[in-house]
Formats: sequence, C-alpha cells, structure tokens
Amino acid sequence: MNPVQQPASRPDASQGSAKARESLSITDNRTGKSYDVPIKDGTINAVDLRQIKTGPDDFGMMTYDPAFNNTAACISRITYIDGEKGILRYRGYPIETLAEKSTYLETAYLILHGELPTKSQLSDWAYHISHHTFIHESTKKFLDGFHYDAHPMGMLISTIAALSTFYPDAKDIFNEESRRKQTYRLIGKMPTLAAFAYRHSLGMPYSYPDNDLSYPGNFLNMLFKTTEMKYRPNPTLEHALDILFILHADHEQNCSASAMRNVGSSHVDPFSATAAATAALYGPLHGGANEEVLRMLMEIGSVAKVPAYIKRVKAGEKKLMGFGHRIYKNYDPRARIIKGIADQVFDVMGRNPLLDIALEVEHIALEDEYFVKRKLYPNVDFYTGLIYQSMGFPVTMFPVLFAIPRTSGWLAQWEEMLLDPEQKIARPRQIYKGYDKRPYVPMEQRS
Ligand code: ACO
Repeated sequence: MNPVQQPASRPDASQGSAKARESLSITDNRTGKSYDVPIKDGTINAVDLRQIKTGPDDFGMMTYDPAFNNTAACISRITYIDGEKGILRYRGYPIETLAEKSTYLETAYLILHGELPTKSQLSDWAYHISHHTFIHESTKKFLDGFHYDAHPMGMLISTIAALSTFYPDAKDIFNEESRRKQTYRLIGKMPTLAAFAYRHSLGMPYSYPDNDLSYPGNFLNMLFKTTEMKYRPNPTLEHALDILFILHADHEQNCSASAMRNVGSSHVDPFSATAAATAALYGPLHGGANEEVLRMLMEIGSVAKVPAYIKRVKAGEKKLMGFGHRIYKNYDPRARIIKGIADQVFDVMGRNPLLDIALEVEHIALEDEYFVKRKLYPNVDFYTGLIYQSMGFPVTMFPVLFAIPRTSGWLAQWEEMLLDPEQKIARPRQIYKGYDKRPYVPMEQRS
C-alpha cells in the first residue's frame, strides 16, 4: 500500500485560520443540549452523532443520505477526483499523463500497488497476467448453454462467478499470496471470458489467448482472429483500446466499486465480489450507458432531428445518455481524451456516421440553459460507443469493454477495504416508516 497521503477530497474548513478549532458545535433544540463533534479531513464521524439523544430510549441521531450523496464510506489512497475542476488522478498521476505515457498493464500495476513498476516489476507483472489468460475448458460448457442472443454482460457476470468454483483457494482472502494469485487470474481471464462470450454470440469457434501479444492485442486476437496462423492487431486500434482501458481502470467510489466493497466486506472470495461489481456496472445509469448512447444516437437518426430530441429530454420524457455525472460538474476529463482517440480510430476505420449526430447533441446541449444550469456535460460514455462501433464491436459488447479494465480498480478497492482496520461488513441503517405491530388478519377477513 502507498503510505503517501492523497489530498483530502473534501475542502478543509480550517485552512485560512490557524486558530480555528477542528470541531463542529451542534445544539439540539429539542433538548437545549450542545455537543462538540471533532472534524477530521473536513468530515465528521457519523457515529459521533449517536450521542445526540432526547432520552435514554432514543437510539441517537443518524444521518439520512439515500444514494450516498454526501457520505464518505471509506478512506482511500487510490483515485482522486475533483469534479468541479474536472481532475482525475490514479495514485497522484493525472489521467492525461497516464493516457499519453503509460500502458493499461502498467497503470493496473500502479493502481494496485500504489507505485509505478520498475522495468523488472513490469515484466514480471505482465508475465504473470499473460500466463493466467487461459480458462478451464468447462467454462466453455457454461457459455455453450447460453442462448445465441444472450447479452454478453449476462454471460460475463455468470462466468466470473463460476470462476470461484474452480479456485476454492480464493477464499483465503487474508493471505497476501492468494490475493496476488486471484488478481493475476481475474485481470488475465477477464478478456478471455469477454471474447469467448462474443464468439459464442456469433456462433464462431473460440480463439485462444496468444501470450506473445500485448494485453489489448491479445484481446483483439481472441475477438477477431479467423483463419490466419498468427493474428496481428492493427497498431492504431491496439493503442486506442489500451488508452480506453487506462481511462476506465478506476473511478473511486462509483456504483460498481461500492458494490465490490460492500459484497467483499462479507469476506466472500474476489471472483464472487467481482461478479457483483460487474452486475452493478451493467445498469444503464452506470457502465451500460455507452450502449444506451449508441441506441439513442440511432433513435435520433439524423442531425436535423437533434433539436426535437433535446426538447423531449428537457420535457423530462428522455434522458440524454452519456451526459451528466454524480461527481463531475465540469467536462469529464476522460471524455476529452476519448474525443482525440475517436479521430485516430476513424482515420483507420472510416468516419462513424453517428458522429455528426453526437457532435450536434453536444453542441446544442453545451449551450442550452437546461444543461448548463444543471452542469450536465458529456461523460466518459458519450464517445466511447462511437469508437467501439467503428472498431467492429456490437453495442451489447460496450459494457463488457468497460468491465475488463475496471477489474484492476475493483481489485484495488477490494484489497484496500479488506486491509483497512476501520472497515467491517457493510450494513447501512434505515428509517423505518412501515406499520407498527399489528395482529395477523385471517384470510376470510381480508378485503
Ligand atoms: N439527461 C437529462 N437530464 C439529466 C441527465 C441527463 N443525462 N442527468 C441528470 N439530469 C437532470 C436530472 O433530471 C435533474 O434535474 P432536476 O434537478 O430538474 O430534477 C438534474 O439533472 C440532476 O440530476 P440527478 O439525477 O440528481 O443527478 P445524479 O447525480 O443523481 O445522476 C447520473 C447522475 C445517473 C449519471 C445521471 O446524470 C444520468 O442518468 N445520466 C445518464 C446516464 C449516463 O450517462 N450514465 C453514465 C455515467 S458515467 C459512468 O457511470 C461510467
């Protein structure tokens, strides 16, 4: 773990006044009592509120925060986001620098280990990942059981969960060596499971991993190899995919990372927790959004029809998919990099006809008061779908292309949670507003 402290994500209220006390004074007007609650990292500990009671039978004050809009559930040193300024850093390194200088495998090492690898550490890491790319032949039998039009995310979630049955040693989660092995396995096998799901939906024979190729190059090989003896990925597409993988590697406490932490907090094995995180990613409000963006652009159909569609969005009939973000209230920095990659891919594969519609949507939305007022900007998913489509992926594969690189982030979040002495099994509270105790009603008396 990296011992270096990242900047606190919350502004520190004490800055600017050396004499300011690091506490919050609260007066409970129900009782007239006052409390002094310590502030650390611009945050109060929710459990400190429990002392605020109206009497001995009172459970104590809780906070109500559906969807965790303003609650930090962990201390993390992995990814830093400043949503107002559009900043994203992994372990202190700006995403723009990593996209320019790094590779996905190096970035995954950084995210998991806290530091960039030395030359020998990187070659050792790449060796182990590429030597865990094969999957048990029985996995193919599960895939064969799926209908030809099964969604690849459904197949991916199921086969990741199935991996836990092949590796019972993965239950040894407090053994560092075991965790390392499962990390190699998960990062190594995710592209294989994804590619096999794709080949199954086409009815094509599976193409086995080629360890001579790079991580994205091997993935392309497993997806697209046909009769050639040796698959040689197009370098532009291979590089574009590598950058897309870097951009998707982690994003702090998003829905799927939180699912990974929550499920992992029960001390289940990492394959089962990763299956849960992948399921969270599948939803159209999260990783499924890139698929929805493409469907939306196809539904709009032409540049001329964009204003009418935007009108429907503003009337609340539709959501503009690929727009808006819980954290970013400025242009998503990943979207800016992706726009650059799109041009490189279109140079090789030809211009995606939906691009003009996307550009018009962005153009209108960035100037429209509805979107400006709500700080709705294109997010990471707005342009990725266009790139993936141009590279030859069907829309159902888009969230799968997100899940592969996000596995390194999920594993880093999972390990950080496991090793954090402050973490326990995740168990939120509720405000119960249902019936009070009442008598059972016999069937003949029910209306
Ligand atoms: N289109 C139209 N209006 C929107 C959109 C959108 N895409 N997103 C938010 N709004 C509006 C809401 O209706 C709301 O308006 P109101 O104040 O008049 O009620 C306001 O903006 C605030 O939106 P919230 O729903 O409170 O924002 P929240 O932070 O809960 O949601 C989310 C964030 C889920 C990403 C949302 O913006 C959305 O659904 N976007 C479309 C789906 C998408 O692209 N998801 C991918 C996100 S990136 C990722 O997960 C990898």
